[in-house]
Amino acid sequence: MIRRASNLLGWSGVCAVLLAPVVADAYPGGTPSYQTDVAPFCASCHSSRSADALDGAGERAQKEVQENKHIAVILSGQGGYAKLSEPDRKTLAAQIRALDEASTVAIEAPAVVQAGETFRVTVRVTGGAGPVVGVGLVDRAHRWYARPAASAGWAIAAPPQAFGADGSPQSEWLDRRPEAAGRNLSFVNVTGISSDSALQKWDSARVEFTLRAPTAAGSYPLAAAYWYGTETSTLLGYTTNAMGYKEVRGGFTGGSGRVLFSEVLKIDVQ
Ligand code: HEC
Repeated sequence: MIRRASNLLGWSGVCAVLLAPVVADAYPGGTPSYQTDVAPFCASCHSSRSADALDGAGERAQKEVQENKHIAVILSGQGGYAKLSEPDRKTLAAQIRALDEASTVAIEAPAVVQAGETFRVTVRVTGGAGPVVGVGLVDRAHRWYARPAASAGWAIAAPPQAFGADGSPQSEWLDRRPEAAGRNLSFVNVTGISSDSALQKWDSARVEFTLRAPTAAGSYPLAAAYWYGTETSTLLGYTTNAMGYKEVRGGFTGGSGRVLFSEVLKIDVQ
C-alpha cells in the first residue's frame, strides 16, 4: 500500500527506502519522479509553519502546525522517536525549531507591469534540511486552496532557473522532463541543499521565474510556496539503512516536512 502510494507521489529521501528497488538512481531527495506544476495540497504529511496556511479549516489548522504535528510527537517519544533518550529528544526538538526559524521564503517582483509584458520573479529560500527543497509559484498562501500561478492568469514564459547553495545555476531536476513537453513550469526542485541544525549552518538558494502578465488590466495575486524537510539536518533526526539511505525518525508519513508561504503580492497589470 505504502509502496504503491510512494510510486504515485515519489518524494524525498524518506521514501528512498521504499522506492529504492524501483528508482534507486533518482534518489535521495525531493520529488524526483514528476516534473510538473504542483500545488501545496499534495504535501498532506508536511506540517504548516503557521495556522494561517489553513485559514478557515477550524481546529485542523492548529493541528497541522509544526509544534503540534511534529515537535510534540518528538518530545513525547512516540514511534521512531522512542529510541532516543529524553535529553536527545529535547535536543532534536531544539535543533528542528532552530532550522524552522532559519527557514524562510521571500518573493521579489515588480509592483506594476504592462499587460502582456514579460518580467522576472525571484524567489529566495533559506534553511531546509536538504538534500532538496521545493519552490513553486501559486496564487494564494493556503495549503488547500492555492492554485499554480498560471491559474491566476500568469503565463510561465520560460523554464525556471534554479541556483543552488553555491550560487551556481542547475538544471538536473528540470532536465528530467522531456524537452518536447515544454519546461515552462511554476514548480522546481533545488538540489544540493545541506543545512546542519546541530552546527546552525543554513544553506540558501534562489529560483528565477520568467512570467508573462495577463492581457486584461487588473490586480493579480502571486505568492511563493516552499517545501522543505527538517530531520535530515541532524544526526539525531535520521538513521542510515543498509543501502546508505537516510531514514528520518518520524518515518515516511511523519510530520517532519514543512510547507511555508511568502507574502502574497498584488501585482498591478496596466
Ligand atoms: C506521505 C507523506 C508525504 C507526502 C504526501 C508528501 N511528502 Fe514531502 N516529505 C515528507 C517527509 C516526511 C519529508 C521530510 C524529510 C525530512 O524531515 O528531512 C518530506 C520532504 C519533502 C521535501 C524536501 C526533501 C528533502 O530532501 O528534504 C520536498 C521538496 C517535498 N517533501 C515535497 C513534497 C511535495 C511537492 C509533495 C506533493 C506532491 C509532498 N512532498 C508530499 C512526506 C510527505
